[in-house]
Amino acid sequence: MQEIDLLIHSASQVCVVPGYDGPQRGERLGDLGIVEDGAVAVKEGRIVAVGKSVELRADYEAETMIDANGRTLTPGFVDPHTHLPWYGDRANEFEMRLGGASYMEIMAAGGGIMSTVRSVRQASLDELVADNLPRLARMLRYGTTSAEMKTGYGLEKAAELKQLDAMWQLSQRQPVEMAFTFLPAHAVPAEWHGRTDAYVNYVITELLPAGAEWMQKHGVTLFCDVFCEAGVFDVAQTRRILTRAAALGFRLKVHADEFEGLGGTKLAVELGAVSADHLVKTPDADISALGQGETIAVGLPGTPFGLAEREYTPAKAILAAGGALALASDCNPGTTWNESMQMVIALGCRYMELTQAQALAAATLNAAYAIGCGAEIGSLEPGKQADILILDTADYRQLGYRYGTNLVQTVIKKGQVVVE
Ligand code: NIG
Ligand code: FE
Repeated sequence: MQEIDLLIHSASQVCVVPGYDGPQRGERLGDLGIVEDGAVAVKEGRIVAVGKSVELRADYEAETMIDANGRTLTPGFVDPHTHLPWYGDRANEFEMRLGGASYMEIMAAGGGIMSTVRSVRQASLDELVADNLPRLARMLRYGTTSAEMKTGYGLEKAAELKQLDAMWQLSQRQPVEMAFTFLPAHAVPAEWHGRTDAYVNYVITELLPAGAEWMQKHGVTLFCDVFCEAGVFDVAQTRRILTRAAALGFRLKVHADEFEGLGGTKLAVELGAVSADHLVKTPDADISALGQGETIAVGLPGTPFGLAEREYTPAKAILAAGGALALASDCNPGTTWNESMQMVIALGCRYMELTQAQALAAATLNAAYAIGCGAEIGSLEPGKQADILILDTADYRQLGYRYGTNLVQTVIKKGQVVVE
Protein backbone atom coordinates (compact mmCIF):
# COMPACT_ATOMS: atom_id res chain seq x y z
CA MET A 1 0.00 0.00 0.00
CA GLN A 2 1.36 3.39 -0.94
CA GLU A 3 0.90 6.20 1.55
CA ILE A 4 -0.80 9.33 0.32
CA ASP A 5 -2.37 12.45 1.85
CA LEU A 6 -5.85 12.34 0.38
CA LEU A 7 -8.12 9.87 -1.41
CA ILE A 8 -11.43 11.08 -2.80
CA HIS A 9 -13.43 7.98 -3.66
CA SER A 10 -16.88 6.73 -4.70
CA ALA A 11 -17.48 9.46 -7.29
CA SER A 12 -20.14 8.60 -9.86
CA GLN A 13 -17.94 10.32 -12.46
CA VAL A 14 -14.38 11.60 -12.40
CA CYS A 15 -14.04 14.02 -15.32
CA VAL A 16 -10.31 13.87 -16.06
CA VAL A 17 -10.37 16.23 -19.11
CA PRO A 18 -7.16 14.78 -20.52
CA GLY A 19 -4.85 17.09 -22.40
CA TYR A 20 -1.98 14.72 -23.26
CA ASP A 21 0.40 17.70 -23.19
CA GLY A 22 -1.71 20.27 -24.98
CA PRO A 23 -5.12 21.91 -25.15
CA GLN A 24 -8.03 20.07 -26.75
CA ARG A 25 -7.96 21.60 -30.21
CA GLY A 26 -10.76 21.77 -32.75
CA GLU A 27 -13.19 18.89 -32.88
CA ARG A 28 -11.33 17.09 -30.07
CA LEU A 29 -12.83 19.56 -27.59
CA GLY A 30 -15.09 17.81 -25.12
CA ASP A 31 -13.05 14.68 -24.33
CA LEU A 32 -13.68 14.35 -20.60
CA GLY A 33 -12.02 10.96 -20.10
CA ILE A 34 -14.73 10.01 -17.59
CA VAL A 35 -13.97 7.33 -15.01
CA GLU A 36 -17.15 5.93 -13.49
CA ASP A 37 -17.13 4.84 -9.83
CA GLY A 38 -13.89 6.73 -9.70
CA ALA A 39 -11.35 8.02 -7.24
CA VAL A 40 -8.46 10.47 -7.17
CA ALA A 41 -5.31 9.98 -5.09
CA VAL A 42 -3.39 13.05 -3.92
CA LYS A 43 0.05 13.43 -2.38
CA GLU A 44 1.87 16.67 -1.53
CA GLY A 45 -0.71 18.74 -3.37
CA ARG A 46 -0.47 16.77 -6.60
CA ILE A 47 -2.57 14.08 -8.24
CA VAL A 48 -0.79 10.73 -8.12
CA ALA A 49 -3.48 8.47 -9.57
CA VAL A 50 -6.98 8.45 -11.03
CA GLY A 51 -8.94 5.23 -11.42
CA LYS A 52 -11.72 3.02 -10.17
CA SER A 53 -12.57 3.46 -6.49
CA VAL A 54 -12.12 -0.24 -5.70
CA GLU A 55 -8.65 -0.26 -7.21
CA LEU A 56 -7.38 2.94 -5.65
CA ARG A 57 -8.79 1.98 -2.25
CA ALA A 58 -6.80 -1.24 -2.47
CA ASP A 59 -3.60 0.45 -3.64
CA TYR A 60 -3.43 3.53 -1.41
CA GLU A 61 -3.41 4.23 2.31
CA ALA A 62 -4.64 7.82 2.74
CA GLU A 63 -4.31 10.08 5.75
CA THR A 64 -7.62 11.72 4.79
CA MET A 65 -10.46 10.01 2.94
CA ILE A 66 -13.34 11.89 1.35
CA ASP A 67 -16.38 9.87 0.35
CA ALA A 68 -17.82 11.62 -2.73
CA ASN A 69 -20.87 9.42 -2.27
CA GLY A 70 -22.00 9.31 -5.89
CA ARG A 71 -21.14 12.89 -6.75
CA THR A 72 -19.06 14.17 -9.68
CA LEU A 73 -15.42 15.27 -9.63
CA THR A 74 -14.08 17.80 -12.11
CA PRO A 75 -10.94 19.91 -12.31
CA GLY A 76 -11.23 23.30 -10.60
CA PHE A 77 -12.47 25.95 -13.01
CA VAL A 78 -9.83 28.23 -14.46
CA ASP A 79 -11.04 31.74 -15.31
CA PRO A 80 -8.47 33.09 -17.78
CA HIS A 81 -9.94 36.58 -18.25
CA THR A 82 -11.22 38.85 -15.48
CA HIS A 83 -10.84 42.56 -14.80
CA LEU A 84 -10.25 42.27 -11.07
CA PRO A 85 -9.12 44.28 -9.19
CA TRP A 86 -11.50 47.19 -9.61
CA TYR A 87 -13.17 49.68 -7.28
CA GLY A 88 -16.73 51.00 -7.21
CA ASP A 89 -19.59 49.96 -9.48
CA ARG A 90 -21.43 51.19 -12.59
CA ALA A 91 -25.04 50.27 -11.91
CA ASN A 92 -25.96 53.73 -13.23
CA GLU A 93 -24.51 52.82 -16.63
CA PHE A 94 -26.47 49.59 -16.73
CA GLU A 95 -29.57 51.70 -16.19
CA MET A 96 -28.49 54.01 -19.05
CA ARG A 97 -27.99 50.99 -21.31
CA LEU A 98 -31.45 49.72 -20.40
CA GLY A 99 -32.63 53.14 -21.58
CA GLY A 100 -30.98 52.63 -24.98
CA ALA A 101 -27.43 54.01 -24.69
CA SER A 102 -24.68 51.75 -26.06
CA TYR A 103 -21.52 50.68 -24.20
CA MET A 104 -19.27 52.48 -26.69
CA GLU A 105 -21.42 55.66 -26.55
CA ILE A 106 -21.13 55.76 -22.76
CA MET A 107 -17.37 55.24 -23.07
CA ALA A 108 -17.01 58.00 -25.71
CA ALA A 109 -18.89 60.38 -23.37
CA GLY A 110 -16.27 59.88 -20.64
CA GLY A 111 -18.02 57.16 -18.68
CA GLY A 112 -17.42 53.43 -19.04
CA ILE A 113 -13.88 52.31 -18.36
CA MET A 114 -12.89 55.91 -17.43
CA SER A 115 -15.47 55.95 -14.68
CA THR A 116 -13.83 52.94 -13.02
CA VAL A 117 -10.40 54.49 -13.69
CA ARG A 118 -11.41 57.52 -11.60
CA SER A 119 -12.55 55.25 -8.73
CA VAL A 120 -9.40 53.13 -8.84
CA ARG A 121 -7.10 56.15 -8.96
CA GLN A 122 -8.77 57.52 -5.82
CA ALA A 123 -8.82 54.27 -3.86
CA SER A 124 -5.91 53.38 -1.60
CA LEU A 125 -4.07 50.11 -2.06
CA ASP A 126 -5.72 48.77 1.10
CA GLU A 127 -9.17 49.75 -0.12
CA LEU A 128 -8.53 48.09 -3.46
CA VAL A 129 -7.46 44.87 -1.78
CA ALA A 130 -10.34 44.88 0.70
CA ASP A 131 -12.92 45.53 -2.02
CA ASN A 132 -11.72 42.62 -4.16
CA LEU A 133 -11.22 39.91 -1.53
CA PRO A 134 -14.95 39.10 -1.28
CA ARG A 135 -15.13 38.84 -5.08
CA LEU A 136 -12.40 36.21 -5.03
CA ALA A 137 -14.12 34.40 -2.17
CA ARG A 138 -17.30 34.19 -4.27
CA MET A 139 -15.36 32.99 -7.32
CA LEU A 140 -13.81 30.25 -5.19
CA ARG A 141 -17.17 29.15 -3.78
CA TYR A 142 -18.42 28.81 -7.35
CA GLY A 143 -15.44 26.61 -8.20
CA THR A 144 -12.80 28.92 -9.68
CA THR A 145 -9.44 27.73 -8.36
CA SER A 146 -7.23 29.82 -10.67
CA ALA A 147 -7.92 33.15 -12.34
CA GLU A 148 -6.28 35.82 -14.43
CA MET A 149 -6.48 39.46 -13.34
CA LYS A 150 -5.40 42.65 -14.92
CA THR A 151 -4.62 46.31 -14.55
CA GLY A 152 -6.22 48.75 -16.98
CA TYR A 153 -8.12 50.91 -14.51
CA GLY A 154 -5.06 52.98 -13.63
CA LEU A 155 -3.82 54.20 -17.02
CA GLU A 156 -0.99 56.17 -15.43
CA LYS A 157 2.10 54.88 -13.70
CA ALA A 158 1.22 55.10 -10.01
CA ALA A 159 -2.29 53.72 -10.43
CA GLU A 160 -1.26 50.89 -12.77
CA LEU A 161 1.44 49.87 -10.26
CA LYS A 162 -1.10 50.14 -7.44
CA GLN A 163 -3.31 47.66 -9.31
CA LEU A 164 -0.35 45.30 -9.74
CA ASP A 165 0.45 45.59 -6.03
CA ALA A 166 -3.20 44.92 -5.18
CA MET A 167 -3.18 41.78 -7.33
CA TRP A 168 -0.01 40.63 -5.65
CA GLN A 169 -1.51 41.08 -2.18
CA LEU A 170 -4.72 39.37 -3.25
CA SER A 171 -2.73 36.41 -4.55
CA GLN A 172 -1.07 36.05 -1.13
CA ARG A 173 -4.21 36.37 0.98
CA GLN A 174 -6.66 33.74 -0.30
CA PRO A 175 -6.53 30.39 -2.17
CA VAL A 176 -7.42 31.37 -5.76
CA GLU A 177 -4.16 31.20 -7.69
CA MET A 178 -3.55 34.05 -10.10
CA ALA A 179 -2.04 34.99 -13.41
CA PHE A 180 -1.24 38.70 -13.73
CA THR A 181 -1.78 40.89 -16.78
CA PHE A 182 -0.64 44.43 -17.45
CA LEU A 183 -3.21 46.34 -19.53
CA PRO A 184 -2.22 50.03 -19.59
CA ALA A 185 -3.71 50.17 -23.11
CA HIS A 186 -7.28 49.45 -21.96
CA ALA A 187 -8.53 52.93 -22.92
CA VAL A 188 -7.14 56.33 -23.81
CA PRO A 189 -7.48 58.20 -20.51
CA ALA A 190 -9.30 61.55 -20.46
CA GLU A 191 -6.11 63.58 -20.05
CA TRP A 192 -4.81 62.14 -23.35
CA HIS A 193 -8.12 62.51 -25.19
CA GLY A 194 -7.59 62.95 -28.93
CA ARG A 195 -3.89 62.10 -28.60
CA THR A 196 -3.97 58.32 -28.87
CA ASP A 197 -0.54 58.02 -30.54
CA ALA A 198 1.02 60.15 -27.83
CA TYR A 199 -0.56 57.93 -25.18
CA VAL A 200 0.77 54.85 -27.00
CA ASN A 201 4.25 56.44 -26.85
CA TYR A 202 3.77 57.01 -23.12
CA VAL A 203 2.74 53.36 -22.67
CA ILE A 204 5.81 52.21 -24.57
CA THR A 205 8.38 54.52 -22.98
CA GLU A 206 7.05 54.82 -19.39
CA LEU A 207 4.46 52.24 -18.45
CA LEU A 208 5.86 49.07 -20.03
CA PRO A 209 9.31 49.61 -18.46
CA ALA A 210 7.60 50.21 -15.09
CA GLY A 211 5.66 46.97 -15.51
CA ALA A 212 8.84 45.13 -16.52
CA GLU A 213 10.58 46.40 -13.40
CA TRP A 214 7.64 45.23 -11.22
CA MET A 215 7.83 41.83 -12.89
CA GLN A 216 11.54 41.50 -12.10
CA LYS A 217 11.04 42.59 -8.51
CA HIS A 218 8.28 40.01 -7.92
CA GLY A 219 9.78 37.21 -9.96
CA VAL A 220 6.65 36.57 -12.03
CA THR A 221 6.00 36.85 -15.74
CA LEU A 222 3.29 39.35 -16.62
CA PHE A 223 1.07 39.17 -19.64
CA CYS A 224 0.66 42.40 -21.60
CA ASP A 225 -2.77 42.94 -23.15
CA VAL A 226 -4.26 45.67 -25.40
CA PHE A 227 -7.91 46.57 -26.08
CA CYS A 228 -7.66 46.46 -29.88
CA GLU A 229 -10.96 48.01 -30.93
CA ALA A 230 -12.37 50.71 -33.20
CA GLY A 231 -12.18 53.99 -31.29
CA VAL A 232 -9.68 52.58 -28.78
CA PHE A 233 -6.35 51.16 -30.11
CA ASP A 234 -6.04 50.16 -33.77
CA VAL A 235 -4.02 47.22 -35.07
CA ALA A 236 -0.88 49.32 -35.76
CA GLN A 237 -0.93 50.79 -32.24
CA THR A 238 -1.59 47.37 -30.74
CA ARG A 239 1.33 45.94 -32.71
CA ARG A 240 3.69 48.67 -31.46
CA ILE A 241 2.74 48.09 -27.83
CA LEU A 242 2.86 44.30 -27.96
CA THR A 243 6.13 44.19 -29.91
CA ARG A 244 7.78 46.37 -27.29
CA ALA A 245 6.19 44.34 -24.49
CA ALA A 246 7.52 41.07 -25.94
CA ALA A 247 11.01 42.59 -26.12
CA LEU A 248 10.72 43.47 -22.41
CA GLY A 249 9.81 39.89 -21.50
CA PHE A 250 6.02 40.07 -21.25
CA ARG A 251 3.88 37.26 -22.64
CA LEU A 252 1.03 38.53 -24.82
CA LYS A 253 -2.76 38.68 -24.86
CA VAL A 254 -5.17 40.73 -26.99
CA HIS A 255 -8.75 41.96 -26.48
CA ALA A 256 -9.88 41.49 -30.08
CA ASP A 257 -13.08 41.74 -32.15
CA GLU A 258 -15.43 42.60 -29.29
CA PHE A 259 -17.40 45.17 -31.27
CA GLU A 260 -15.60 45.27 -34.65
CA GLY A 261 -13.29 42.86 -36.43
CA LEU A 262 -10.14 44.91 -36.98
CA GLY A 263 -7.59 42.11 -37.36
CA GLY A 264 -6.52 41.88 -33.73
CA THR A 265 -6.88 38.10 -33.68
CA LYS A 266 -4.62 37.62 -36.71
CA LEU A 267 -2.10 39.93 -35.09
CA ALA A 268 -2.27 37.90 -31.87
CA VAL A 269 -1.51 34.70 -33.79
CA GLU A 270 1.28 36.40 -35.74
CA LEU A 271 2.94 37.67 -32.55
CA GLY A 272 2.56 34.31 -30.81
CA ALA A 273 0.18 35.68 -28.17
CA VAL A 274 -0.91 33.14 -25.57
CA SER A 275 -4.56 34.10 -26.11
CA ALA A 276 -6.90 36.30 -28.13
CA ASP A 277 -10.04 37.14 -26.18
CA HIS A 278 -13.66 38.16 -26.97
CA LEU A 279 -13.69 37.19 -30.69
CA VAL A 280 -17.28 38.09 -31.49
CA LYS A 281 -16.83 39.87 -34.84
CA THR A 282 -13.81 37.85 -35.86
CA PRO A 283 -13.33 37.82 -39.67
CA ASP A 284 -13.07 34.42 -41.40
CA ALA A 285 -9.39 34.93 -42.23
CA ASP A 286 -8.63 35.45 -38.54
CA ILE A 287 -10.58 32.32 -37.60
CA SER A 288 -8.44 30.34 -40.07
CA ALA A 289 -5.33 31.87 -38.52
CA LEU A 290 -6.37 30.49 -35.12
CA GLY A 291 -6.29 26.99 -36.59
CA GLN A 292 -2.73 27.50 -37.81
CA GLY A 293 -1.18 29.02 -34.68
CA GLU A 294 -0.83 28.30 -30.98
CA THR A 295 -2.93 31.22 -29.70
CA ILE A 296 -5.93 30.12 -27.61
CA ALA A 297 -9.29 31.69 -28.55
CA VAL A 298 -11.07 32.82 -25.38
CA GLY A 299 -14.84 33.20 -25.62
CA LEU A 300 -16.50 35.46 -23.04
CA PRO A 301 -20.24 34.79 -23.41
CA GLY A 302 -21.01 36.75 -20.26
CA THR A 303 -20.09 39.94 -22.10
CA PRO A 304 -22.67 39.99 -24.91
CA PHE A 305 -25.16 38.59 -22.38
CA GLY A 306 -24.31 41.37 -19.92
CA LEU A 307 -24.66 43.95 -22.68
CA ALA A 308 -27.88 42.32 -23.95
CA GLU A 309 -26.33 41.86 -27.39
CA ARG A 310 -27.15 39.08 -29.82
CA GLU A 311 -23.82 38.00 -31.24
CA TYR A 312 -21.48 35.60 -29.50
CA THR A 313 -18.09 34.03 -30.22
CA PRO A 314 -18.47 31.74 -33.27
CA ALA A 315 -17.27 28.63 -31.45
CA LYS A 316 -18.29 26.15 -34.14
CA ALA A 317 -16.29 27.96 -36.82
CA ILE A 318 -13.26 28.27 -34.53
CA LEU A 319 -13.39 24.55 -33.74
CA ALA A 320 -13.95 23.62 -37.40
CA ALA A 321 -10.82 25.62 -38.25
CA GLY A 322 -8.87 23.58 -35.67
CA GLY A 323 -8.61 26.37 -33.10
CA ALA A 324 -8.32 25.79 -29.36
CA LEU A 325 -11.22 27.38 -27.51
CA ALA A 326 -11.38 28.42 -23.86
CA LEU A 327 -14.10 30.12 -21.82
CA ALA A 328 -13.72 32.95 -19.29
CA SER A 329 -15.95 35.29 -17.33
CA ASP A 330 -14.51 38.72 -18.29
CA CYS A 331 -15.81 39.65 -14.81
CA ASN A 332 -15.78 43.47 -14.70
CA PRO A 333 -18.03 46.27 -13.46
CA GLY A 334 -18.91 47.57 -16.95
CA THR A 335 -20.05 44.77 -19.16
CA THR A 336 -20.46 41.63 -17.05
CA TRP A 337 -20.21 41.46 -13.29
CA ASN A 338 -20.44 37.70 -13.00
CA GLU A 339 -18.10 35.73 -10.76
CA SER A 340 -19.40 32.26 -11.65
CA MET A 341 -17.81 30.05 -14.29
CA GLN A 342 -20.90 27.82 -13.97
CA MET A 343 -22.90 30.72 -15.41
CA VAL A 344 -20.29 31.13 -18.17
CA ILE A 345 -20.68 27.43 -19.03
CA ALA A 346 -24.47 27.82 -19.12
CA LEU A 347 -24.16 30.78 -21.51
CA GLY A 348 -21.52 29.01 -23.63
CA CYS A 349 -23.89 26.05 -24.10
CA ARG A 350 -26.78 28.22 -25.16
CA TYR A 351 -25.21 31.02 -27.19
CA MET A 352 -21.95 29.49 -28.42
CA GLU A 353 -23.71 26.16 -29.07
CA LEU A 354 -21.22 24.15 -27.04
CA THR A 355 -22.11 20.81 -25.48
CA GLN A 356 -21.71 20.60 -21.70
CA ALA A 357 -18.58 18.46 -22.25
CA GLN A 358 -17.06 21.03 -24.62
CA ALA A 359 -17.88 23.89 -22.27
CA LEU A 360 -16.38 22.05 -19.29
CA ALA A 361 -13.12 21.31 -21.15
CA ALA A 362 -13.02 24.94 -22.35
CA ALA A 363 -13.45 26.18 -18.76
CA THR A 364 -10.74 23.92 -17.31
CA LEU A 365 -8.00 22.43 -19.50
CA ASN A 366 -8.10 24.95 -22.35
CA ALA A 367 -8.58 27.83 -19.93
CA ALA A 368 -5.39 26.75 -18.17
CA TYR A 369 -3.56 26.90 -21.50
CA ALA A 370 -5.00 30.37 -22.07
CA ILE A 371 -2.95 31.60 -19.10
CA GLY A 372 0.10 29.48 -19.95
CA CYS A 373 -0.48 27.03 -17.07
CA GLY A 374 -1.74 23.98 -18.94
CA ALA A 375 1.11 21.81 -17.72
CA GLU A 376 0.20 22.45 -14.06
CA ILE A 377 -3.59 22.81 -13.79
CA GLY A 378 -6.84 22.33 -15.71
CA SER A 379 -7.19 18.54 -15.66
CA LEU A 380 -7.14 15.62 -13.24
CA GLU A 381 -4.16 13.94 -14.86
CA PRO A 382 -1.47 12.43 -12.60
CA GLY A 383 1.34 14.91 -12.02
CA LYS A 384 -0.91 17.95 -12.07
CA GLN A 385 -1.76 20.11 -9.11
CA ALA A 386 -4.71 18.71 -7.12
CA ASP A 387 -7.29 21.42 -7.85
CA ILE A 388 -10.53 19.46 -7.67
CA LEU A 389 -14.26 20.20 -7.41
CA ILE A 390 -16.90 17.91 -5.96
CA LEU A 391 -20.17 18.78 -7.67
CA ASP A 392 -23.37 17.99 -5.84
CA THR A 393 -24.70 15.95 -8.76
CA ALA A 394 -24.16 12.46 -10.16
CA ASP A 395 -23.73 13.66 -13.76
CA TYR A 396 -21.48 16.43 -15.14
CA ARG A 397 -24.22 17.25 -17.67
CA GLN A 398 -26.07 19.12 -14.95
CA LEU A 399 -23.42 21.80 -15.59
CA GLY A 400 -24.72 24.21 -18.19
CA TYR A 401 -28.18 22.67 -18.00
CA ARG A 402 -28.79 24.14 -14.58
CA TYR A 403 -27.75 27.67 -13.74
CA GLY A 404 -28.28 30.17 -10.99
CA THR A 405 -27.70 27.59 -8.25
CA ASN A 406 -24.23 26.67 -7.14
CA LEU A 407 -23.52 23.00 -7.93
CA VAL A 408 -20.11 23.11 -6.25
CA GLN A 409 -20.14 21.32 -2.93
CA THR A 410 -16.42 21.09 -2.11
CA VAL A 411 -13.39 22.91 -3.48
CA ILE A 412 -9.91 21.43 -3.13
CA LYS A 413 -6.90 23.60 -3.96
CA LYS A 414 -3.43 22.06 -4.07
CA GLY A 415 -4.79 19.06 -2.16
CA GLN A 416 -6.36 21.12 0.63
CA VAL A 417 -10.10 21.49 1.20
CA VAL A 418 -10.73 25.24 0.94
CA VAL A 419 -14.54 25.26 0.57
CA GLU A 420 -16.84 22.71 2.17
O1 NIG B 1 -13.50 43.14 -21.68
N1 NIG B 1 -13.60 45.66 -23.49
C1 NIG B 1 -12.86 46.14 -22.67
N2 NIG B 1 -12.82 45.83 -21.41
C2 NIG B 1 -13.82 45.18 -20.67
C3 NIG B 1 -14.82 46.09 -20.10
C4 NIG B 1 -14.22 46.85 -19.01
C5 NIG B 1 -15.16 47.88 -18.44
O2 NIG B 1 -16.15 48.27 -19.06
O3 NIG B 1 -14.85 48.33 -17.32
C6 NIG B 1 -14.34 43.99 -21.40
O4 NIG B 1 -15.54 43.83 -21.65
FE1 FE C 1 -12.02 42.02 -20.94
